[in-house]
Amino acid sequence: MGLFSPGFPGSMEITWTTFNETEESTVEYGLWGGRLFELTAKGKATLFVDGGSEGRKMYIHRVTLTDLRPASAYVYHCGSEAGWSDVFSFTALNESTSWSPRFAIYGDMGNENPQSLARLQKETQVGMYDVILHVGDFAYDMHEDNGRIGDEFMRQIQSIAAYVPYMTCPGNHEAEYNFSNYRNRFSMPGQTESLWYSWNVGSAHIISLSTEIYFFLDYGVDLIFKQYEWLKKDLEEANKPENRAERPWIITMGHRPMYCSNNDKDDCTQFESYVSTVSKFSYQLMRRLFPGVDLELWAHEHTYERLWPVYGYKVFNGSIEQPYVNPKAPVHIITGSAGCRENHDTFVPNPRDWSAFRSTDYGYTRMQVHNTSHLYLEQVSDDQVSREGSPQFYNYEVDGLLQSLTDM
Ligand SMILES: [Fe+2]
Repeated sequence: MGLFSPGFPGSMEITWTTFNETEESTVEYGLWGGRLFELTAKGKATLFVDGGSEGRKMYIHRVTLTDLRPASAYVYHCGSEAGWSDVFSFTALNESTSWSPRFAIYGDMGNENPQSLARLQKETQVGMYDVILHVGDFAYDMHEDNGRIGDEFMRQIQSIAAYVPYMTCPGNHEAEYNFSNYRNRFSMPGQTESLWYSWNVGSAHIISLSTEIYFFLDYGVDLIFKQYEWLKKDLEEANKPENRAERPWIITMGHRPMYCSNNDKDDCTQFESYVSTVSKFSYQLMRRLFPGVDLELWAHEHTYERLWPVYGYKVFNGSIEQPYVNPKAPVHIITGSAGCRENHDTFVPNPRDWSAFRSTDYGYTRMQVHNTSHLYLEQVSDDQVSREGSPQFYNYEVDGLLQSLTDM
């Protein structure tokens, strides 16, 4: 089970799976320290039949809690009279735009070899994060063993996702049976079964995109145009002066990066030949919408790479001394090294000039949107921690300060 932000104020969506049909989908909850389970919310379940040979049936329950008191802690459990979950807790998102939300960000985390998982579980439970962003590629792969790998993955992340909103985008490992395990198991805002959506938190407008619609054309070329039209509208709205004044940070997340310098013989080095003419055209079309974006979060490459502000393969640093202050193009972060059975990727020896820093260490990104002018990023290296045998986190790179692009 997990929590997801439905994208409107004072709300939280709780999603869980049962393998039997139950009469009700109920969350009982109450303020931390108050009378236990004094409130009740009901939702509904949808039947999900996995595409594997067994046609396994699962009932996905969704309950939306509304009228939550911002920044207040709640205790809850979910289920029905047929059975209840353990007791969990969460803090309702602060609605203020002057709040400074804290994020953990990563992609490509599987059931096997999830190097960052233990640290993420503990850090979430001690309250270090308000939101998790998982930038595609889950479980490896959720559909395998007739969906049982997906079941196990959801159990694995429950120790994170039951406490803070776990926000996602689809990756290539979700593609089987038209992304149906992904579309059914997660509950993102909007009406696209979690494929693309946007939401606001603090002074940030966060846009989640599917890069996979450009690669799995059998599932519908129309998705490319639908997402493009939606994105255009969403960016127009977010860029209206009154909205940008309130939420100057526009952050995108999508699985496959637009720029990278890995040596995996497809996406980075031979990207132009890998995709079909249609997808090449539309991916570039989408790229044209991005100059108004401050920060682009990607994964897919099982490494960490920080780019200089870049657009159209050209570097647009703010200045020589302070490249990330008032940059004139989006900053890109590729963070796909939380750990999976495919281990690490490697880099080409000589990256192009837009590449600022690279590491093959396992790890994940921490981000805090401090206020309307400052955003902080740091990368945690799991490898450095274990080599030193120290309980301290070894942060090998601090990105410094980015400033909004509103004055462009
Ligand atoms: Fe991937």
